[in-house]
Amino acid sequence: MSAVLGISGTYHDAAAALVVDGHVVAAIQEERLSRHKNDPRLPFHAAEACLAYAGLAAAALDRVVFYEQPFDKLERVLVSTLEVFPRSLRQFPRAMASQLGDKLWVMDQLAERLGVDRAKVTAVEHHRAHAASALFVSPYERAAVLTVDGVGESVSTGLWRGDGRELTPLGRIEYPHSLGLLYAGLTAYLGFEVNEGEYKVMGLAAYGEPRFRDELAKLIRVEPDGWFELDLSYFGKLANADLGFGPKLEGLLGPRRPPYAPWDLSTERDQRYADIAATLQLVTEDTLLALAREAQRRTGFDALCLAGGVALNAVANARLAKEAGFRRVFVQPAAGDAGGALGAAILGALELGDPRPGPLATAALGLPADASAAMALASELGFSVKRSDDIHTVIAERITRGEIIALCTGRFEWGPRALGQRSILADPRDPDSRERLNRAIKRREPFRPFAPAVLADAAARYFPGAPDDMTPFMTTVCPCPDQAFAAVRHVDGTARVQTVTTATPALYAILEAMRAQSGHPVVLNTSFNGAGEPIIASEVDALAFLLSHPIDGLVVDDVLITKRPG
Ligand SMILES: [Fe+2]
Repeated sequence: MSAVLGISGTYHDAAAALVVDGHVVAAIQEERLSRHKNDPRLPFHAAEACLAYAGLAAAALDRVVFYEQPFDKLERVLVSTLEVFPRSLRQFPRAMASQLGDKLWVMDQLAERLGVDRAKVTAVEHHRAHAASALFVSPYERAAVLTVDGVGESVSTGLWRGDGRELTPLGRIEYPHSLGLLYAGLTAYLGFEVNEGEYKVMGLAAYGEPRFRDELAKLIRVEPDGWFELDLSYFGKLANADLGFGPKLEGLLGPRRPPYAPWDLSTERDQRYADIAATLQLVTEDTLLALAREAQRRTGFDALCLAGGVALNAVANARLAKEAGFRRVFVQPAAGDAGGALGAAILGALELGDPRPGPLATAALGLPADASAAMALASELGFSVKRSDDIHTVIAERITRGEIIALCTGRFEWGPRALGQRSILADPRDPDSRERLNRAIKRREPFRPFAPAVLADAAARYFPGAPDDMTPFMTTVCPCPDQAFAAVRHVDGTARVQTVTTATPALYAILEAMRAQSGHPVVLNTSFNGAGEPIIASEVDALAFLLSHPIDGLVVDDVLITKRPG
């Protein structure tokens, strides 16, 4: 039996995960504690928080496992930079600085800063960490596993056979051929920030027609078995890391969209960008589908696990579940690079002889909220504070009458989705709530949808196809035929639904109260954060948000806090 800490970081979205005796005890992204969105720095806050939660000293760790091989990554960066010399001359010092400096000595730094014997610090391959993060917390003993991201050390796409404790590689595609980079390049072309704007492209795609297939066929050539190749002359990633695409792409698709310009989809110009987004989404889905079908043929298994940043594409995941030939599909909540910390920790634990963890029941793997501390601070700030035995009924009543309530309860979530521990809740049938949320709180582009949460036992009635293995973690979309749920229904008639069971106790109780009051156990659930900020972690973050945003109330566990009595 052992205690293993997994670490991801230095590229983007750093995280730590702690596995003790084969159980996932805690998993935390650094950004939640440092309050820097997608914080890439080595996650010492998160590591300390995981250990503190478990009541463990760092000296008690049997192993610290980093989520990629630093030397292999350095070699890839050097080789790919030198290959395009001298075009990459300007880029070269930057690429070197990002790899030398702190990054190369990451294992030494981890040992030193954590206070762990250097011999206990090891590393695993990046895509193996992704694959492990999905398979070993999935509900499946055996599954095909597909890992798809921008790039790890050198691999961008991996196909695996997962059986019990074993992960066997079946195939790989190497950088710079990468679906993640294709998506990132066009995300930048469409004027969004890479590693952050991919969700926006996915939302925008629903407003467009995929009429640029011939053009995109020039960018990526896909074999029937899913193996693909990019035409690198369109991508500037090597020569200009800020853009991710080259001038030839603008020759093909027209001028790039200026970043930060407000969107107006009634204009021909923005409609064209929406059509490009729709085509990119379709090409991504078709490529993933071909890869997944190949994975099914090669393994003969009836379950698929997905990981890597591309697996956060909920619309593509829904198509895979329907069309790839698998009976079941699973994507764990932190499918991106943060999730590598979880995979690394589990791989370390398995190597030390621990059992495989059970299926992930909840994403609430962070630190708990402290209601008493919230009460004391809220009183000091002059807020109205009320503790209630029946807080869930109070929340449901307020939401049903059109209020927007922020919820900070239990341990915060693992992964980019708020799943009922750090959520802002509103009436899913009230388009005004959506407007208020967008305008005053989230300040998002008008085409970005809000998501619903629904009781799992009633899900099929509102969202045909739900629940499945992905809906508890909001990593897929389902049809939403009832137009009454206007605030959570995307323009294409789908919703990124979360199904809720007693594994998420507070949200479960709120939805039960919603059912009793309105007949519908459905609520609008969006992440509890301001524009461009990481999701709230502590009750202090939550109170700071209440101070600065026009929400109607904040609930910390069983305490309702409002700016004015009422
Ligand atoms: Fe990755």
